[in-house]
Amino acid sequence: MNFILNSSKEILPFKKENKVSWRSPSNIALIKYWGKKENQIPANPSLSFTLSESFTETSITYLESEQKESLVLKFKFEGKENFQFQHKIETFLQKITKYFPFLNKLQLKIESHNSFPHSAGIASSASSMSALALCLCSIEKKHFGTLTDENDFFTKASFIARLGSGSASRSVFPFAASWGEIIENSISSDEFASVLPFDLHQKFKNYKDAVLIVSKQPKKVSSTAGHELMHGHPFAAERFSMAKNNLKELLSALKSGDEDVFIEIVENEALTLHALMMSSNPGFILMHPNTLKVIDKIREFRENTGMKICFTLDAGPNIHLLYSDNDQDEMNKFIKNELEEYCEDKFWIADGLGNGPIEIS
Ligand code: DP6
Repeated sequence: MNFILNSSKEILPFKKENKVSWRSPSNIALIKYWGKKENQIPANPSLSFTLSESFTETSITYLESEQKESLVLKFKFEGKENFQFQHKIETFLQKITKYFPFLNKLQLKIESHNSFPHSAGIASSASSMSALALCLCSIEKKHFGTLTDENDFFTKASFIARLGSGSASRSVFPFAASWGEIIENSISSDEFASVLPFDLHQKFKNYKDAVLIVSKQPKKVSSTAGHELMHGHPFAAERFSMAKNNLKELLSALKSGDEDVFIEIVENEALTLHALMMSSNPGFILMHPNTLKVIDKIREFRENTGMKICFTLDAGPNIHLLYSDNDQDEMNKFIKNELEEYCEDKFWIADGLGNGPIEIS
């Protein structure tokens, strides 16, 4: 697919003020993207569950600018001007004018907010960058009549989201998505994510994710710096091939509904991510003592009850507890009685697999 827009084919002029809005979810990686090459090309393929309750809503109001040939941007986050985010978005938009040449003649007002508190220690780049990419694709569709094919629309949105933040490429698809070329999926690519090449087994479609906020502190290491640590990492080559094998096994478990293999792979990926950070130079310990306590509790509970529950981690101390919605009542009790005390201010988010982004009118 050619992602570059031929901007001579404008069908609706930009003379009148217009607005587009999207709600786009966050995702939780099961096979972790950790390490990248130039131009946001991943060092290994990754796979995630798309969430439903943790999302960003972004709207772009736009009009032809009087200052021709340069982009004019005003950005508000949660109702307030935010110059740090504005600068980040401006740099990103300038980088992608090749794919959306119309950006250079517009004045844009972008407003964005998250469903989760900004101080919850949750990375929001996946939901925010995917929401922004979807809005830009909607502008293209409206004014140029392109991207009318749904598949083309979401593929371009994923391609653009990836340029903003790698993990964001996976957020534009429902339930589960993978990003990175793999032999198991002929449409897979390093440049955009795609849905899985089969229907996710019913067992996993209703999976829940309790996001246990062990610490609300902002991340100690930005993901950009984290990916950088994989350059020259002594275990890099082994890790990248391990991710491919784990992905292959996880795909077959997601298809057949094998929760034991799912648990084994998902926890292995989470602990490997942290092991890679610890063995980097410099090395980072991003878990909190309470992260280890919660992991112990989850494993003990699984051992004692035989219930198919497991955990995964981001590049930080917070825990995603994954389980079937059939076990929801039991898990609510378990979280309340045994895990909540390890969360900062007892805060956790009840999330689960979701349908992907929606356009809001
Ligand atoms: C540990 O997508 O945030 O969450 O491409 O530099 O923006 P950039 O990195 P980012 O990295 C995510 C890392 C991770 C694993 C994952 O989501 O796959």
